[in-house]
Amino acid sequence: MGALEHGWAELARAHHDRTDIEELRLKYLGRNSAITQHMSELGSLPQEKRRDEGQDSNFAKSGLEDQLVAVMELKRQAELERATREGALDVTLPGRPVTRGRLHPATLGLRQIYDVFSDMGFQIYRSREVETDAYNFEFLNMPPHHPARDLFDTFYTTTPNVILRTHTSPGQIHAMREYCPEPIRIILPGMCYRYEQISARADIQFYQVEGLAVGRHVTLSDLKGTLSDFARRLFGQHVRTRFRADHFPFTEPSAEMDVECFVCDGRGCAVCKQTGWLEILGCGMVHPTVLRYGGYDPAEFSGFAFGMGPQRIIMLQHRIEDIRYFFQNDLRFLEQF
Ligand code: DAH
Repeated sequence: MGALEHGWAELARAHHDRTDIEELRLKYLGRNSAITQHMSELGSLPQEKRRDEGQDSNFAKSGLEDQLVAVMELKRQAELERATREGALDVTLPGRPVTRGRLHPATLGLRQIYDVFSDMGFQIYRSREVETDAYNFEFLNMPPHHPARDLFDTFYTTTPNVILRTHTSPGQIHAMREYCPEPIRIILPGMCYRYEQISARADIQFYQVEGLAVGRHVTLSDLKGTLSDFARRLFGQHVRTRFRADHFPFTEPSAEMDVECFVCDGRGCAVCKQTGWLEILGCGMVHPTVLRYGGYDPAEFSGFAFGMGPQRIIMLQHRIEDIRYFFQNDLRFLEQF
């Protein structure tokens, strides 16, 4: 049993010289090891020798196994000690900060607007971004060659008459055709696209929030009351509003709404360009032609509509100077919200 003794000696050294324990196990206890070999030959020994030899072999084998387990444990301990010594924990180090995601400023601003309008009974209506020429222009009282089309620098697709919507107003027609003859009170948020020169004030894609109310007795006072209340709820109860006459093909009469500059409280500053007022949205009474395209009889029904650029409002609220920050995904910008 010279091989066994050699095994003991080698195992005893093993935990110092980092010999691979598994290698040793195979070598001294594995199928091809001397002891396994020896034990398989026991059967051919004469009866009287077989018992003693067997006992000796079993004793030797289990001794070797115990030794192996002990060495493994020693090695594990040594390994642990080395790891804690080398990678010693410095409990005085500051912890790694947990990074939490946050909402995009556009999402935050949009949610504020949704909250205000849902309190007033408006529902959100989603409408498509890829539109037909008819919905984007014609049904909104801008037939082919109407000069107002020039105001919308349109992205055309390779499919005739299919375009990217230049405003959320085509959603008005979709909603009216879906709900007619029921009354309507909705806001229509979403992305719009215009083929524009990109600058600090204009991007080729931007959000709009459209509003539409249709019923049997909807008046200009309802429009003014709703939008003034909206401004007070969003900017503060003291804020004043004013309406200036304007023109949109899809409303008659049409107006722009200004709110008193919330930066200087109307005294005049750089943000409001010394006027004391900030232009917030366009609005008006839904044009009879548009009502008719939506399926409503203008003799019985009336409505008001409005459209705003929420990014402009968010820019004013947070003094953001460049609209391009919204879609640049620059963490230095986004982490401020
Ligand atoms: N669609 C207009 C635009 O993109 C905004 C607008 C103005 C929408 C007046 C309206 C409205 O519904 O009544 O400039």
